[in-house]
Amino acid sequence: MSTHSTEPYRPVFTGETRDRLEALGTKYPTRQALLLPALWAIQEERGWVSPEAITEVAEFLQVTPAYVRGVVTFYTMYHTHPVGRHFIQVCTTSPCNICGAEGVVEAFLEHTGCLDLGATSPDGRFTVIEVECLGACAFVTPVLINDDFIESVTAESVPALLARYP
Ligand code: FES
Repeated sequence: MSTHSTEPYRPVFTGETRDRLEALGTKYPTRQALLLPALWAIQEERGWVSPEAITEVAEFLQVTPAYVRGVVTFYTMYHTHPVGRHFIQVCTTSPCNICGAEGVVEAFLEHTGCLDLGATSPDGRFTVIEVECLGACAFVTPVLINDDFIESVTAESVPALLARYP
């Protein structure tokens, strides 16, 4: 999948979004401290953080694009390429894995049509990735779908769960 659009980049930090960030900025000691909220604003609006968006953030915060890129690539919650409408994160750290997380991942890949981790389904609905401990080791297998935290997911419960995400 191409990660670059042929359309000219439309800035995100305009109008209400810009006003909201500027207002938030008054609560932080430095402008640079707005970096994470600024990246969230980009991702909420566009679904991912493109190279052009990194440049926009850098200019807005008066830091270098390399600095912004370093932060974007450090955190797994920021997407550096387009993802499906519903972003599915499955814990596969050892405690979950020995209790069946691998089967849950396989079920997600099969029933979403993604087939590969990190790939997006042909209908654009889903992207599935594995993540480290989600802090719910007693409720195997925990899964994050967008902002929804769902515990005790099994391979068998995956189809009904996906039906809730059109
Ligand atoms: S190891 Fe899976 S939630 Fe902790």
